[in-house]
Amino acid sequence: MKKSYTILLLTMLMGINSFVVKAETSNEASNKGVSNVNSFNRLLKKESKTNPPPMEDGIHDADNPGTALLQAPATAFETLDKSKHGNHINWVSSLDAAKIAPRWDRSDPTIQPIVFDLNIIREVKGSMPNVIYPHKAHTEWLDCSNCHPDIFIPQKGANQISMASIMLGEKCGVCHGTVAFPVTTSTCSLCHTQSKGNVQLPRSQASNSQ
Ligand code: HEC
Ligand code: HEC
Ligand code: HEC
Repeated sequence: MKKSYTILLLTMLMGINSFVVKAETSNEASNKGVSNVNSFNRLLKKESKTNPPPMEDGIHDADNPGTALLQAPATAFETLDKSKHGNHINWVSSLDAAKIAPRWDRSDPTIQPIVFDLNIIREVKGSMPNVIYPHKAHTEWLDCSNCHPDIFIPQKGANQISMASIMLGEKCGVCHGTVAFPVTTSTCSLCHTQSKGNVQLPRSQASNSQ
């Protein structure tokens, strides 16, 4: 008697459970384009189609007839320099080649950015090439106040930066992975640009002593 009660209860619970799971996968998860339980991490999201048209991008209202009239990014990006990362456009070289001329100030088209040409070298331990942070490529788009002082104290070496914090969306990761090229296995060398040559790492003595 007691046993069959437990089984009945279990079946009910399992029924409710599978219902809840099903509801979540069909609505919430698919709406967000999320692939699995690691969905809290945007870097693990399933890759969606690159530069989809407004009707399919999940941002614009597909039921609004005006959405179909908007220019598709793929058309707008056609003449720009290509890259293998992020949204597949090399924004830095496209800007350098004057293929785009973004307006610096919303109301005054004559205002130009203050481009600051200063590289900051961040030394990385081990054989990984050092990171050269280029102010120039950033200040062509961004204002000093986009980074200083909230993301970085403007003083070389004053900030603790690690790959872990970048992957968590802090430091460089505030933008890289959201509005600028992301961290993937093929982008390491875009930031880690200063090669150390043929480094010989000191071997551990522990295993050699006899
Ligand atoms: C995209 C982010 C970003 C922007 C925008 C930016 N900086 Fe920086 N800046 C950095 C980083 C990163 C460092 C290095 C900090 C470190 O090494 O801890 C730095 C360092 C500095 C330093 C210290 C240099 C030294 O040798 O100690 C100064 C000064 C500075 N920035 C000024 C500016 C000015 C002026 C602007 C605007 C024209 C600007 N920055 C825009 C990220 C930025
Ligand atoms: C957006 C720029 C950027 C990209 C992309 C990037 N890194 Fe880094 N990486 C950094 C910065 C900045 C640091 C901190 C350097 C320092 O100590 O000041 C760092 C530090 C590191 C370190 C030192 C230890 C640590 O965890 O902080 C290693 C190892 C490393 N990166 C490996 C990688 C690998 C592997 C990739 C590709 C999968 C990669 N990085 C991609 C910017 C980047
Ligand atoms: C406030 C936003 C922001 C932050 C913070 C930021 N970046 Fe960037 N970064 C950009 C944008 C925007 C571009 C240009 C678009 C692109 O290349 O995807 C860019 C481009 C770059 C480039 C390419 C330059 C070239 O010549 O092609 C490198 C390298 C880079 N960032 C390294 C870093 C490193 C290292 C850090 C952290 C120390 C960092 N960035 C922090 C926004 C940012």
